[in-house]
Amino acid sequence: MAPRRVAVIGAGASGLCALKCCLDEGLEPTCFERSKDIGGLWRFEEHPEDGRASIYRSVIINTSKEMMCFSDFPIPEDFPNYMHNSKIMEYFRMYAQHFDLLRHIRFRTSVCRVSKRPDFASSGQWEVVTESEGKQEAAIFDAVLVCSGHHTNAHLPLSSFPGLEKFEGCYLHSRDYKSPQPFFGKRVVVVGIGNSGIDIAVELSHTAKQVFLSTRRGSWVLYRVADNGYPFDFSYLSRFMQLIHNLVPTSILNFFMEWKLNARFDHTLYGLKPKHGVLDQHPTVNDDLPNRIISGRVRVKPNIQEFTETSAIFEDEPVISCKLQNKPGSGQKPQSISAPGKRVRPEKSSVDCSGFVLYSKRCVVVHGLVSSYLLSLSWVRLGIGAHLQLQRDTEVARTALPSPCPSRQPGRCWLGDNKWSCSLCCAAADTVTCLVNHK
Ligand SMILES: Cc1cc2nc3c(=O)[nH]c(=O)nc-3n(C[C@H](O)[C@H](O)[C@H](O)COP(=O)(O)OP(=O)(O)OC[C@H]3O[C@@H](n4cnc5c(N)ncnc54)[C@H](O)[C@@H]3O)c2cc1C
Ligand SMILES: NC(=O)c1ccc[n+]([C@@H]2O[C@H](COP(=O)([O-])OP(=O)(O)OC[C@H]3O[C@@H](n4cnc5c(N)ncnc54)[C@H](OP(=O)(O)O)[C@@H]3O)[C@@H](O)[C@H]2O)c1
Repeated sequence: MAPRRVAVIGAGASGLCALKCCLDEGLEPTCFERSKDIGGLWRFEEHPEDGRASIYRSVIINTSKEMMCFSDFPIPEDFPNYMHNSKIMEYFRMYAQHFDLLRHIRFRTSVCRVSKRPDFASSGQWEVVTESEGKQEAAIFDAVLVCSGHHTNAHLPLSSFPGLEKFEGCYLHSRDYKSPQPFFGKRVVVVGIGNSGIDIAVELSHTAKQVFLSTRRGSWVLYRVADNGYPFDFSYLSRFMQLIHNLVPTSILNFFMEWKLNARFDHTLYGLKPKHGVLDQHPTVNDDLPNRIISGRVRVKPNIQEFTETSAIFEDEPVISCKLQNKPGSGQKPQSISAPGKRVRPEKSSVDCSGFVLYSKRCVVVHGLVSSYLLSLSWVRLGIGAHLQLQRDTEVARTALPSPCPSRQPGRCWLGDNKWSCSLCCAAADTVTCLVNHK
């Protein structure tokens, strides 16, 4: 009997091992890959490509090599435990070469349609229509393996952000974020606290003027380097731990794990504590975030309520951040670390100067002026003075700027090669909002 033919769609991590397994089983696989190369999302390119997930230059995987490697092809000893995307690509290339996979892959070939054959009930066969260099082709397969990835398209929930249409800064999805250089010296709001959001906030915090990390429900933050310096997943994902997981209720496991995470840094103190349990959501992994928060380079904020032309206004948020609440030298523990969690609220009277937290560079100037009034004027004068000063400076700032860029559309104004693809847009932008969501 002729070997059964299998169509594999995509040559990322899943497609490559699907291809190899088909060969192991004596099947006849053909892999169709839309792009020019293997690797799927792990192949970094300067510009996002249609139909393929896109990563930023610095992405380091958060699964250790001990846990992520193909079981029949160990990752070389000299590779680091947590690999940069370039190393992952190196590994995939070694894998493809070792099992001689490339000759089964048709690059620059998109699968456009998969449908059951008219005689599917008896044959179980599929018709697969592909397109390459503008030419369509149909072929019959006995099976189809869909390995096309699940982080391909950006989800940019613009309707969640009233006023964004009038916001004069730039905004983009993490899919379009490549490197921190274009954000040098800017005030940046990163929305979302998944792995993309935290990675990007931490990276930007080294070069941006200030980074604000906005989250509507917080997150438990796991870390790569666990006890004694071993990888976290290697330390805690084992058959023994799985047995415990099966025997002990999740609420108790959550309690212990949260206690351990809080022992590293108290999530309430850092404004990050979510309502959900640590095992109830996809894990967020970052070793550097607490350090960036405690040094004030990343400031945690609640959800964005709305945008104005120049600013992001946060929900439920007083202006002044709750820095250490206790007197220096008092020996008492601080109640909050530069991150206003719900627990600590300054009195309303201390928050009125500019009304809301204003996050563009221009408004910082305004805020600074207002703050100096604080020292010398009465509250009444402060209220009036602040309001007038705010209006005046905003006017000045507005007239000094070019008119908003007409191409300020999601996907059209993006970063790469250390520059904006749209220079007018860049000139108008002091604040860049990074909407981070793949769901
Ligand atoms: C920034 C980021 C970091 C991540 N980090 C981790 C991590 O640390 N650990 C982890 O386990 N997972 C991580 N993931 C999850 C990630 O999805 C997996 O690691 C893995 O890359 C998925 O591989 P895949 O082959 O299923 O999909 P992809 O890598 O997305 O590959 C899909 C391939 O299919 C091709 N394709 C799609 N449609 C078609 C079509 N119609 N015709 C032909 N070809 C097509 C695409 O061009 C692409 O090459 C991360 C995801 C992102 C976005
Ligand atoms: N270094 C790495 O290995 C690495 C790096 C990046 C990504 N990844 C992986 O890639 C996948 C995608 O991760 P991701 O971080 O890009 O996406 P994600 O996990 O889906 O996180 C999206 C974030 O955006 C927030 N959000 C969504 N809609 C919102 C709205 N309307 N208003 C405000 N906030 C909103 C979400 O908040 P809620 O939680 O409140 O919904 C969440 O915090 C994950 O599997 C992740 O592990 C890995």
